[in-house]
Amino acid sequence: MTEPEASPPSFGGVLTDHPGSANTRATSHATLTASLPASPGTPQTALLAAPAPAPDPAGEGLAGGIPEVNEEVIVLDYGGQYSQLIARRVRDCGVFSELLPSHTPLAEIERRKPRGIILSGGPASVYAEGAPKLERGLLGLGVPVMGICYGMQLLVHELGGRVEEAEVGEFGRSDLTVTEPGRLLKGMPKEQTCWMSHRDTVIEPPPGFTALASSSVSPVAAVEDATRGIYGIQFHPEVVHTPYGQEILTRFLTEVCGCERTWSAKGIVEDQIARIRRQVGEGKVICGLSGGVDSSVAALLVHRAVGDQLTCVFVDHGLMRKDEGEQVVSAFRDTFKVPLVAVDAERRFLDKLKGVTEPEAKRKAIGAEFIRVFEEEAAKLAGGSDGEGARFLVQGTLYSDVIESGGGTGAATIKSHHNVGGLPDDLKFELVEPLRALFKDEVRAVGAELGLPERLVWRQPFPGPGLAIRIVGGEATKERLDVLREADSILQEEIRKAGLYRDLWQSFCVLPDVRTVGVQGDERTYGYVVVVRAVTSDDAMTADWARLPYDLLETIASRMINELREVNRVVLDITSKPPGTIEWE
Ligand code: XMP
Repeated sequence: MTEPEASPPSFGGVLTDHPGSANTRATSHATLTASLPASPGTPQTALLAAPAPAPDPAGEGLAGGIPEVNEEVIVLDYGGQYSQLIARRVRDCGVFSELLPSHTPLAEIERRKPRGIILSGGPASVYAEGAPKLERGLLGLGVPVMGICYGMQLLVHELGGRVEEAEVGEFGRSDLTVTEPGRLLKGMPKEQTCWMSHRDTVIEPPPGFTALASSSVSPVAAVEDATRGIYGIQFHPEVVHTPYGQEILTRFLTEVCGCERTWSAKGIVEDQIARIRRQVGEGKVICGLSGGVDSSVAALLVHRAVGDQLTCVFVDHGLMRKDEGEQVVSAFRDTFKVPLVAVDAERRFLDKLKGVTEPEAKRKAIGAEFIRVFEEEAAKLAGGSDGEGARFLVQGTLYSDVIESGGGTGAATIKSHHNVGGLPDDLKFELVEPLRALFKDEVRAVGAELGLPERLVWRQPFPGPGLAIRIVGGEATKERLDVLREADSILQEEIRKAGLYRDLWQSFCVLPDVRTVGVQGDERTYGYVVVVRAVTSDDAMTADWARLPYDLLETIASRMINELREVNRVVLDITSKPPGTIEWE
């Protein structure tokens, strides 16, 4: 199959959900592609201005990993479901942003010298006991502040306007009328749609403020006091269902905050190369490649920085998708000339999986074996000719991992999936984490900037234990893995041909350990059932089953049955998450 040409991914090139439960949301075929956000401008083409060698501020969330940027906008998280998305959208505009807890001390905020501060939405009512408060000193910093949803209500309430508790909320699409564009909404159409998600409503702006817009439920849907640099919008500019949302954010960032939009993939690469060189010096570095985009981009960045001081280790556990191992080896060893140790460990892993049918036992067996193989290879590398082994280990930790583990926001949401394929904490390495400040879409943009092949840049997430946890209710034998691998390859090929690969969070096959009766030619068959699973999602925390076109499903099913002797039935999983999980085990 021919590869589609790599097109530079936009920072905004991710599927975005509206505020609402993903599992109750109706998605049509059209929304698979129609929900791609329009990102204004092309921030990734902007150049990062030469960064001043700043002292490394020990950022809470980024643990000293704050990139050297000359402008930053802070998003204070009041617990909104879409706080992370606000930070991402700000970066889409070419401005570095960090998500910090709403209770971040003022001194900490001041130290970052932000160009602007955005207060996110949140589930509380300003009248609720214990509702998160506004740190009043924020407004005295001389930095523009914009509140979104709860953030706006908080500003209005604190500054003497009127917020009313309402019986009826305003959820979903609303018609917005711009009554007085002011500075924030200048140049926007008088009538537009926006996405609302609130119960309490602003009735009157605080003294000195101008009301800018209204909807049928919200008499005051946007406010500003341009002289004091305080702005508020009731609707959500960060979701794609507010068509002018990105434009409003851009206006706030450029016209109000005076940001120059210098955050770009090229700038990130330059910044990270400088940092990695400083951290690593002449030391040796080791990196475990998984074939996924994160470890690939992290490895390439480190290689750009310190060349052959880096050695990559790729453990092929035999549980990868078809041709994936070869693609990784060919990209890194042949194209990028990165020193690479590729370990064919299929036999070892299959031996460990013998007789193992229970999901967690599979994960444990694979995880333990992975560590064993990796440690063996690391030990071999430690015996280098100059006697000095690798001191540094590269990890592809992302900003969302930092946030989700509480490092960024103190939020309680901690991803619960078991990151098999990860390494134990007690490995004696100093970590190099060049992606720690980046969102996934930025990692892809950096990958494209570094020349990583399209297939690796856009690879869908794949679990560490690989295909083993997609053979459900039974042992992951070589025979079953091969059937699943072939079925999966047909699915991927057809999904790519249909142009849907990037729109899906994941698409894969599951092979239950059951056989069903069929008839092919004049013969009765007794074969495997293949389950097709395809989901859209933002972050894997929730997911919606993808409405793949019927014709595509038919092609997929008939190819699987015609081309794979062992398969005589194909079914489609139409469960969202929750209540289902994405994987079956
Ligand atoms: P679930 O099935 O929990 O999956 O909805 C959420 C995301 O996590 C991936 N996943 C895993 N990733 N090791 C991994 O590295 C695992 O054991 C594992 N289990 C699930 C899954 O593919 C999805 O993207």
